[in-house]
Amino acid sequence: MSDPPDHPVRAHFRAFAREQARGKSDLYEGLAEAAAASDAVMAFVAGQPPGKRQANLFLAALRFVSGLPDGAAGLERAVARDGDRIAQVMRTRSTQTNEPGRCAYLAAQLAALPGPVGLIEVGASAGLCLYPDLYSYAFSSPGEAADPGAADVVCTLTGRTRPGPVPEIAHRVGVDLNPLDARTPADRAWLETLIWPEQTHRLARLRRCIERVADQPPAVIRGDAAYLTAALIREAPKGLPLVVANAAALVYMPDAARRAVATAIRESGALWLSQEAPGVAASAPPDAPAPADGLFFVAAQNGVAKAWANPHGDSLHWLPARPDAGAAR
Ligand SMILES: C[S@@+](CC[C@H](N)C(=O)[O-])C[C@H]1O[C@@H](n2cnc3c(N)ncnc32)[C@H](O)[C@@H]1O
Repeated sequence: MSDPPDHPVRAHFRAFAREQARGKSDLYEGLAEAAAASDAVMAFVAGQPPGKRQANLFLAALRFVSGLPDGAAGLERAVARDGDRIAQVMRTRSTQTNEPGRCAYLAAQLAALPGPVGLIEVGASAGLCLYPDLYSYAFSSPGEAADPGAADVVCTLTGRTRPGPVPEIAHRVGVDLNPLDARTPADRAWLETLIWPEQTHRLARLRRCIERVADQPPAVIRGDAAYLTAALIREAPKGLPLVVANAAALVYMPDAARRAVATAIRESGALWLSQEAPGVAASAPPDAPAPADGLFFVAAQNGVAKAWANPHGDSLHWLPARPDAGAAR
């Protein structure tokens, strides 16, 4: 194990604490700072293979194996006691959060289609975003009290009225490098652990949505979307209007793979609905800055920004209507 005091891992943990966890999870902010301050924990993380040293992955693996540690001393104790098992989880799993809240944008866009439609998801994880038609929605206006338990997906809307119902989805399939099966205890526990400790409304939503789809487990094909997206589109039932969706997935792919996915969708004529960080699948709208309270995805249609979307689906801020010129795909 190596322990360089100024290893980039330490800087990464500090940046994670201050730029990602702050304001969202006091526990993760504190644990990431404590990890960064601990030579023993930094040596442990730096000893993992490149690509397996992310703070988010470490903290999830730690909770998965040892539970939530009680402060800095508990963190060091857990790593000393359970290090081998934590390392094994870090090496074999990844941060494949599946967030059915992202169906808010899909539901709003699909509601404009007559249906039935086919839905393909690129980077589907456990496939929970393949079921926007099975979940219930509570769309509210800003300032309206939104009861987090009002529906499976609770979303504040600005710039548009509430959408109508989601049309019938007559065909659905996903592709993922490593599909998870939410029916197995281990994968379900991992999906739950990927939700940050204080985000209890997300955990409740995940559990509800897993139950909703339990009778019709999603088909998620194992493989690289760069090669399989075109095939999945080709194999979809003929005559069915197709929608291809991706959320927080293209960001993990190299540029060439992103281009391959975009080309496959564009050449097929399918409707492309993406929710990714600005610049990944669509550019940020130059004249409509993201809301100030946090990081937002660009929710796009055919490569053109349509809304700013909270990464977990809690809010959608529609942009003024504009022509679809200048698509970034
Ligand atoms: C953060 S998860 C998001 C899952 C889901 N789209 C959602 O929004 O809940 C990203 C997923 O993309 C998958 N992924 C990354 N690169 C991929 C590739 N080249 N082909 C297929 N899946 C990929 C990962 O395995 C992971 O499950």
